[in-house]
Amino acid sequence: MRQMSIKSGLRASQVGDEANQKDYYDKAVHYDTCWGLDNIHTGYYPHLSAHFPSSSDYAPLEFKQAAFTLNGHMINVGRINRNDTVLDVGCGKGHGPVQIARQTGAKVVGIDIGTSNIVRCKEYAAQNPELDLTYEEASFTDIPAHLKNKYSVIFAQLAINHYHTDLHSVFEEFKSVMAPGARCVFNDYLGSDRPGGEMSDDTKEHVLKRLHFDVLHGHREWRRIAEDCGFYFQYYENLDDHMVQSYKDLSHTAYQNGFKSADGAELGKNYAETVEAIMRGEIGMNLAVMTLEPRVYFNGVDTKDMNDMRGPHGTYHNCAYPLGPK
Ligand SMILES: C[S@@+](CC[C@H](N)C(=O)[O-])C[C@H]1O[C@@H](n2cnc3c(N)ncnc32)[C@H](O)[C@@H]1O
Repeated sequence: MRQMSIKSGLRASQVGDEANQKDYYDKAVHYDTCWGLDNIHTGYYPHLSAHFPSSSDYAPLEFKQAAFTLNGHMINVGRINRNDTVLDVGCGKGHGPVQIARQTGAKVVGIDIGTSNIVRCKEYAAQNPELDLTYEEASFTDIPAHLKNKYSVIFAQLAINHYHTDLHSVFEEFKSVMAPGARCVFNDYLGSDRPGGEMSDDTKEHVLKRLHFDVLHGHREWRRIAEDCGFYFQYYENLDDHMVQSYKDLSHTAYQNGFKSADGAELGKNYAETVEAIMRGEIGMNLAVMTLEPRVYFNGVDTKDMNDMRGPHGTYHNCAYPLGPK
């Protein structure tokens, strides 16, 4: 039985010489080569998406480009703009914050439990003083009091997945730093929707162990917990296909470079098995925009005043303008 400490955010999960997930990220040497400079999230591929015109079918992106496109897509669906103050929880080496700050002019605060990640974030921020970027080594399971401001956006890419055992507590911690009308813009690594979250031994061996995951919820359970915590979904997208494409691309690069995981396994094989796990429905990925109010506010405009036709789980990105007289 693993020890869980929601306060520190660390849980003992020895794999080779890695004691826990912080140790994994601090020691990881493959990310810049395989995933792109400073990036630790998967990609968004327009040719797989219903949101983009079909002409995109002719121009599949490479993985590193797709990782930037995911940032941009999250900025769009989260409607992040220069009036926002964003808290990126589990910001890694700053790939998301840099693009948010550059593309929108928003103020971004990033926290991460990884010592080497935050060193890299601060180095980049110092070299780019025109961007409003602040970073701190901290756990989002216990956000330090001096950072407990009220943020208009809580942003996370593939970080919450380390705490699905305590997903309720993590969502409650985020609620404590949300300003009125704030939205959460989350991209998370998921498990299976099968009864009991059932997974094969191959998936446990090649996915869960390597990433120091203990429990991963599937799409349905993840949404159920969020709604249980009082969140309303303003947007939800299943990114399983994008995850398949990402890990196919990553597998090639990892094999080419001969990277190994802490248990000695070929990283390329781990990634190829991840593709199989997604195809079996044992692993998945989502993108969600959630609020604590049933409706969202943008730039002071109460969307209740907009004469749109959305259902409770509809997307809102087509509803920026009133459609008719009240
Ligand atoms: C897959 S990486 C994603 C990093 C970044 N969001 C990105 O997309 O490039 C997950 C990150 O979550 C961080 N993390 C894990 N547990 C954390 C915690 N309790 N508090 C803060 N960061 C945490 C890890 O150090 C790692 O940088």
